[in-house]
Amino acid sequence: MRIHTSIASLRAVRIQAGRVAFAPTMGNLHDGHISLVHAARKHTDADTIITSIFVNRLQFGQGEDFDKYPRTFEADCERLAAAGVDHLFAPDEAEMYPQPQRYYVEPDPEHASILEGAFRPGHFRSVATVVLKLFNIVWPDVALFGKKDYQQVMVLKNMVRELALPTEVIALDTVRAADGLAQSSRNGYLSADERAEAPRLYRQLSAVAEAVRSGSRDFTRLEAAALAELERHGWKPDYLTVRRRADLQLPERLGGSLVVLAAARLGTTRLIDNIEI
Ligand code: PAF
Repeated sequence: MRIHTSIASLRAVRIQAGRVAFAPTMGNLHDGHISLVHAARKHTDADTIITSIFVNRLQFGQGEDFDKYPRTFEADCERLAAAGVDHLFAPDEAEMYPQPQRYYVEPDPEHASILEGAFRPGHFRSVATVVLKLFNIVWPDVALFGKKDYQQVMVLKNMVRELALPTEVIALDTVRAADGLAQSSRNGYLSADERAEAPRLYRQLSAVAEAVRSGSRDFTRLEAAALAELERHGWKPDYLTVRRRADLQLPERLGGSLVVLAAARLGTTRLIDNIEI
């Protein structure tokens, strides 16, 4: 695997690279990230796999964990090389933002100001901007993202469609620990006791998903019961809600594909998860 820290170096190989599959990351890689690389090899016709590691300061709000976000570059490189990545783009901030970023992608507030966007104002504008910038550097034919960040995938799919980008976005299922906890770089912040408690988020989402699959349409009651159960065990939930998959708006009528999504704080760690229904 070749490591590129400059845009010029990455572009020089990109031009020769045939069809490219791209998995952008912020590093501290876990099995979820590696599953994106495996899917790139198995389920796309890409000749070349490129990943990136860049902790994008812009998408962290005031008081969020940018400074303490885990950086494990050496271990990440080993995992990516073992998984068969051809090129890693790992720029520093001066390379990605040589001057303060003044031009942004502005996602539709209906998509970006709800759920995560309501608790992390400006987050999706910064995610969309850095992903567009990475796409402009890598020119991927296919880009792979994990469904754990369900709203991120929805925003990016809409960005690609509305800006006519020549990239197919593929969303991969969340990779979970044996007890159901979604793989996340932020799991590393959990104490041993919190780690034992953490799968409750998945269990509550599963209970709501199962009830809806069995025919219940009283979403308000199901959501309230799941939120109360989390709170009873010391969680501070931001939301737990059933939404339409396509645009994450409230389901107004019966039918259509649904997803139940949640974000909740356990101690100082904020976890998100979701289950398609
Ligand atoms: O999902 C992530 O790790 C980040 O939001 C992304 C897509 C790499 C953009 O910084």
